[in-house]
Amino acid sequence: MSDRAVSARLRDEARSLDAADELRAKRAEFVLDDTVYLDGNSLGALPAQVPGRVADVIARQWGELRIRSWDESGWWAAPERIGDRIAPLVGAAPGQIVVGDSTSVNVFKALVGAVRLARGEEGGHPGAGASGGAGHPGEGRDEIIVDATTFPTDGYIAQSAARLTGCRLTPLAPADVPAAVSSRTAAVLLNHADYRTGRLHDLPSLTAAVRAAGALAVWDLCHTAGALPVGLDAHGVDLAVGCTYKYLNGGPGSPAYLYVREEHQARFDSPLPGWTSHVEPFGMRPEFEAAQGVTRGRVGTPDILSMLALEAALDVWDGVAVEAVRAKSLALTDFFLRCVAAYVPKGRVESITPEAHAERGSQVALRCEGAGDVMKRLIERGVVGDFRAPDVLRFGFTPLYVSFADAERAARVLAETLDA
Ligand SMILES: Cc1ncc(COP(=O)(O)O)c(C=O)c1O
Repeated sequence: MSDRAVSARLRDEARSLDAADELRAKRAEFVLDDTVYLDGNSLGALPAQVPGRVADVIARQWGELRIRSWDESGWWAAPERIGDRIAPLVGAAPGQIVVGDSTSVNVFKALVGAVRLARGEEGGHPGAGASGGAGHPGEGRDEIIVDATTFPTDGYIAQSAARLTGCRLTPLAPADVPAAVSSRTAAVLLNHADYRTGRLHDLPSLTAAVRAAGALAVWDLCHTAGALPVGLDAHGVDLAVGCTYKYLNGGPGSPAYLYVREEHQARFDSPLPGWTSHVEPFGMRPEFEAAQGVTRGRVGTPDILSMLALEAALDVWDGVAVEAVRAKSLALTDFFLRCVAAYVPKGRVESITPEAHAERGSQVALRCEGAGDVMKRLIERGVVGDFRAPDVLRFGFTPLYVSFADAERAARVLAETLDA
């Protein structure tokens, strides 16, 4: 088939796939232009209702109601209320997610909190007694395992958490965790999807292996929340964190979240106890006494403007099933990979994203010579992905607003760019 015929066929196919897409109406709920935006795995696009809602928060809630808004506009309760909006997207029942701070800060809270729970410093880790040895189940747990390929911030914080808790730090590929986790392990910090390659790690089986050893599983969901079902409750995840500015479209620097499994909440001992995680925040007492529930994961005054922008952004999820998002995400990345194979001469790029659906998140990463320059030229031509050193082109597929026509155009422009 001629190049022209191949292109015509793929464009036709994209049109049919878009026509059959049950999520296609969602695109109109975002502020987008003619650009092919494949960077929602870094910064999600702006949902159209956010500017008006933020304008109201500023002009009326802050400008007119002022201090009254902490109560009357629901500012004080926003971290838990918005946590409950995120909960169904990651498979959590209400009351287990609190929004606030950055992912980095929440990794710290979760990891140190997990070590304390595993050691029974707050009364013992339920379940550890059965498998963690006789007497003191947490005794001797002096190891933190961290994903060796992690996004750097998680690695840096794991190093600090290890120093603070007197643990040794063991960096491992996630697949090697089941063989290595032991009665010495306190906590394991893993990424659900690898930020560079887009590889999806097997959260159910890895969590089960960690818990069977009496350790706690802490997951970073930055690259999966809003892109695929996570199943935190169903799979027994102990603690989890994630950002909200990628597939949840909360905006630049929007606050992150912390999940503390219900069974751990009574003993969760945050290493960052602040006045808003106190049982009586306005009692101004010198001694710390933690609030009940996931509220003890809060620290200080919530960042209300970004938090309420996020709340408005979450409206786009009304009526959306995460399973439908996942189905479209896989169809998009499959189609994009096929278009790349059809358009790009062999050997010019190499996909480092797994072929198998069970191992693929919602991005495609292509290794390519001169990737930094290639991405610059792609962006000039209206195809926005990003570059990760030294040689990776990343293309994120946000099913709520990316179309099959976008996928076809991105692959075609990539081939033209490499040819130029
Ligand atoms: C897996 C992962 N963890 C953490 C972060 C960043 O965390 P923070 O929100 O603290 O900047 C990112 C940012 O892209 C990430 O990809």
